[in-house]
Amino acid sequence: MAAMKRYLPLLFCAWASASAQGAPQAPTAANSAAPMPVIRQNGAVKQMMVDGKPFLMLAGELHNSSASSIEYMKPIWKKLEAMNLNTVIGTASWELVEPQEGKFDFVLVDDQIHQARANHMRLVLIWFGTWKNANASYAPLWVKKDYQRFPRVRSRDGAAREELTPLAEASLAADARAFRALMRHIRAVDPQHTVIMMQVENETGKTGDSRDRSPLAEAAWNKPVPSELMNYLSENKARLLPELTRVWGASGFKTSGTWPEVFGTDAWADEVFMAWYVGRYVGKVAEAGKAELPIPMYANAWLVQNDTQLPGGYPSGGPVSRMHDIWRAAAPGLDLLAPDIYLPDFKGVCASYTRSGNPLFIPEARASVPNLFWALGNHAALGYSPFGIESLPQDTPLAAAYQTLGSMMPVITRYQAEGKVAAVVQETPEQRNQAISTGGYKLSFSFGGGGRGPAPAQGQAPAQGFALVINTAPDDFVLAGQGFSLTAAPETPGPRIAGFGTIDEGRYERGVWLPGRRLNGDESGGGSRASLRGPGVGVLKIKLYRYE
Ligand code: DGJ
Repeated sequence: MAAMKRYLPLLFCAWASASAQGAPQAPTAANSAAPMPVIRQNGAVKQMMVDGKPFLMLAGELHNSSASSIEYMKPIWKKLEAMNLNTVIGTASWELVEPQEGKFDFVLVDDQIHQARANHMRLVLIWFGTWKNANASYAPLWVKKDYQRFPRVRSRDGAAREELTPLAEASLAADARAFRALMRHIRAVDPQHTVIMMQVENETGKTGDSRDRSPLAEAAWNKPVPSELMNYLSENKARLLPELTRVWGASGFKTSGTWPEVFGTDAWADEVFMAWYVGRYVGKVAEAGKAELPIPMYANAWLVQNDTQLPGGYPSGGPVSRMHDIWRAAAPGLDLLAPDIYLPDFKGVCASYTRSGNPLFIPEARASVPNLFWALGNHAALGYSPFGIESLPQDTPLAAAYQTLGSMMPVITRYQAEGKVAAVVQETPEQRNQAISTGGYKLSFSFGGGGRGPAPAQGQAPAQGFALVINTAPDDFVLAGQGFSLTAAPETPGPRIAGFGTIDEGRYERGVWLPGRRLNGDESGGGSRASLRGPGVGVLKIKLYRYE
């Protein structure tokens, strides 16, 4: 029955016919429209604004196929709410949204909106359109079968692949039309903006070769580089990322000519060509959607896996960090470019994605509480979203961390805007000590069992210590984290010794501090240190003072 319903060719008002008992419920419209979600500069950082207020997406991404069945999803929604998510990354696939050309079915989208709302969460929807992991598996069958109208990429050997070439205007027009219909529908059923952001396509680019060699691509390759790109590069020459400067500089920064004349003929030149055409395609799809509902939109990337990998080993033309300048020129309609981080160097990927002002959002990652803290504390990440969230146990450590961070959200976002939030994260067991400078003090953290603070209960020592550090006023700090103790030393002129005036444990509820014990004596190392040794993520308020 559910499968049959899925394929009913319903036009825009899919939910109206589905309101019978037991059928998926349509989202109910609020009386008045809420402010449009937007990413904007707020003081020192860019923030996601939801209902007019800064919002951290404490999220999780569903497995690819989960949201294709309302039945399958039923028990999952409650579980995700119980895991303290405030945002779910769900899916809308082209094959299910437009099973026949021009006939749209939004039942599955409606159900996700309805369920997210009923379970007090927001939604980000992935548009599985032309690209899904550098392939076109989510294109509807009517697209896949019509390979004359929707031509495929070709590799060096001339063989066609399932992926559509980004150079075919007919494919772009069809994808953009479907995405626009989706956004028009969301605008109609979601005035309260349960859907706060869209991911346009998924892990774009071409694998197996550094460049598309289809007839359309070959023709474009031997034509002049479009003047929009040449102008963008010339105007931003001093600000370009070093990787692109290297590729463009290899042929002497030419400002006109064919692709091989301007960028050369190696795999890096091929990647620039692909990034322009893939970025342009995704940007135009995003623009079509924004014409209906201008909520934030982003593109995500399958990352370069190691330093020796060439474009084509990873999807050539996707929004990897080295191609951000090209994507920015090609897709001005996108708000950010996002990394799917499965690599061990989480810190390095975050740093590479925040070069040149790209706001950080991590739509896919492994569930790691220390990494979550790192992204929020040091990069003001808009959100963090482990992949396959419904497979995690409900009592995953991430759930407790989301609860703590969710209740602190007004505090974190306020001080992020003031530039007063940082994080320390231990990456390896050997890395036992780290220090940061903040608020006129050097805060020295020791992780693991060291220090004179109370030892963790047996079996409860976290593998990695981590802390979010918020400088809320002169001498005042809020620390959230686990598995550390810290000492403080002044770094500004004045008395040379820092002492702990007060140390309070406690928690936040909706941004309001609720103190617990005042920690002193054995629990404060005799007044010389503050500790959070678990179990679970804890919160401390400390007041420092100085003497000599
Ligand atoms: C990356 C993709 O973007 C996801 O949709 C999913 O397939 C994961 N890989 C699986 O690890």
